[in-house]
Amino acid sequence: MKDLGAKKSELEPIEIASRDEIEALQLKRLKWSLNHAYTNVPMYKKRFDEAGVHPDDVQNLKDLAKFPFTVKDDLRDNYPFGLFAVPREDIIRIHASSGTTGKSTVVGYTKNDCDLFANMVARSLRASGVRPGEMVHNAYGYGLFTGGLGAHVGIERLGACVVPMGGGQTAKQVQLINDFKPQAITVTPSYILNLLEEFQNQGIDPRDTSLQVGIFGAEPWTNAMRSEVEQAFDMHAVDIYGLSEIMGPGVANECVETKDGLHIWEDFFYPEIINPTTGELVEDGEQGELVFTTLTKEGIPMIRYRTRDLTRLLPGTARSMRRMEKITGRSDDMIILRGVNVFPTQIEEQLMTVDGLAPHFQIELYREGRMDAMRVNVEADPNASDADSRAAAGETLRNRIKTNVGVTTIVNVSEPGGVPRSQGKAVRVLDNRTGER
Ligand code: DLL
Repeated sequence: MKDLGAKKSELEPIEIASRDEIEALQLKRLKWSLNHAYTNVPMYKKRFDEAGVHPDDVQNLKDLAKFPFTVKDDLRDNYPFGLFAVPREDIIRIHASSGTTGKSTVVGYTKNDCDLFANMVARSLRASGVRPGEMVHNAYGYGLFTGGLGAHVGIERLGACVVPMGGGQTAKQVQLINDFKPQAITVTPSYILNLLEEFQNQGIDPRDTSLQVGIFGAEPWTNAMRSEVEQAFDMHAVDIYGLSEIMGPGVANECVETKDGLHIWEDFFYPEIINPTTGELVEDGEQGELVFTTLTKEGIPMIRYRTRDLTRLLPGTARSMRRMEKITGRSDDMIILRGVNVFPTQIEEQLMTVDGLAPHFQIELYREGRMDAMRVNVEADPNASDADSRAAAGETLRNRIKTNVGVTTIVNVSEPGGVPRSQGKAVRVLDNRTGER
C-alpha cells in the first residue's frame, strides 16, 4: 500500500498548533457558543438558569462541566425547529435521522455551518490520504442522512472529483469503480463487504482496482475488520466519525499514516468523556460516554450533547488534536446477557479470527424460559462450505466467544448469502425477546 500521509505543508496551521493555542481558541469560541445558545434558544436559557450557571461565568474550559447536558429527546421534544438559534430563513439545509421509534430528530445548518461541514469533511479526507484532483466514489446514502451529502460537499471542497453513487445498486457500484478508477471510496464498513462480495461474483480481483483508501464510518467496526478489508482490497482503511446532532461525518477522522484512533477536530467540536451512569467527567484515557459541545455552529448550537457512544480520549499523535479510540459501541446497543455486557463489535472481533466464515453477522436475542439467550447468525465462506468444515468453524467461533467475551451463545452457520446484507448501516442486533421477565 502506498504511503498517503499528508506533508506538514499541506495541513492547516491549527492541526499542528500547540495545545495552548488550541485551548485558547476553544475557550474563546466556547464563550461565544454558550452565549449564542443562551440568548437565542429558550430551552438553553431555561436550563442554564435552573442550573444557576451563566455563560459569562466561564473562566476556563473545565467550567463547561457545570452546564447541563443535552440529549436526543431534547431534539424530539422541540421537533421540528424548536432548537434553532437563528431565524428559519437563515437555515439553508435540513437533515434528519430516521429514528427507529418516535419522531425523527431534525437539524438545520446556516451558510456558515454548511461551510464548516464541507471544510471538516475536506480536512478528514486529507487526513485519510485523499488529494485534490483525485476521484472519490461516494457510496454513503444521499437524502436526509448526513452521510451522502456531507461527504459529497467535502469531496468537492477538497478539490477532488465526487462520484455521487449513494447506497444500493451493488453490481453497478462495482462496474463504476472498475470503469472510472477512483482513488478513494466513502462507504459504511458493512456495505464495503457487500461490494467485496460483488467484486468476487463478477470475477474481478478487488486487489486489482484503483482504490487506495476506503473511508469508513456511520457504524462501529473493529481493527480486525480493518485488516480484513485492507487485505482484500490492498488499500488503506480509515475511520471517519460524526453524528447529525453535532454536524454529520467529519467530526473526527483517523490519519492514514498512523491509524491509531480518530483525531477530533477540536477547534470546532469540544469533547468530554463522562461516566454514563453518574454524569461525572472522567480523566483523559478513561473509557466512558463521549459528550460534544459545538464551538461555532450557528443553526443549532449543541451544548454538552450526550452521544451515547463509548470511547476514551487519547493525546494527539499525527496531529496536535486529541484522538478518540475506535468506538466500542453505543450504550444503547450494549447487550446484557446473564449479567455480562456484550457489544456487537466484540462478536465481530472474534468472527474475524475464524477461518471458513464470511465477515457478515447478525445477533439475535431471544427468550429461553425465563432467561435471555443469544444466537449469532453467520455464514460459511463460499470456499469452505462443506457441512463438516462449516460445523467446525461454527464450533470454533462459539468457543472463542465463550473464552474471550465470556458468554455462551448458539452459533448458526448458514449458506453463503444467508445473513441479510445492509445498504447503509447494518442492523447488528435483532431483539426477539418476548414474554415474561
Ligand atoms: O452516521 C454520520 C456519519 C456518516 C458518520 C458517514 C460517518 C460517516 P447519524 O446517522 O446521526 O450520523 O449517526 C450517528 O452513528 O452517534 C455513532 O453511534 C455512529 N457512528 C458514526 N460514525 C461512527 C464510527 C452519521 N466511525 C451515530 N464508528 C453516532 C462507530 C459511528 N460509530
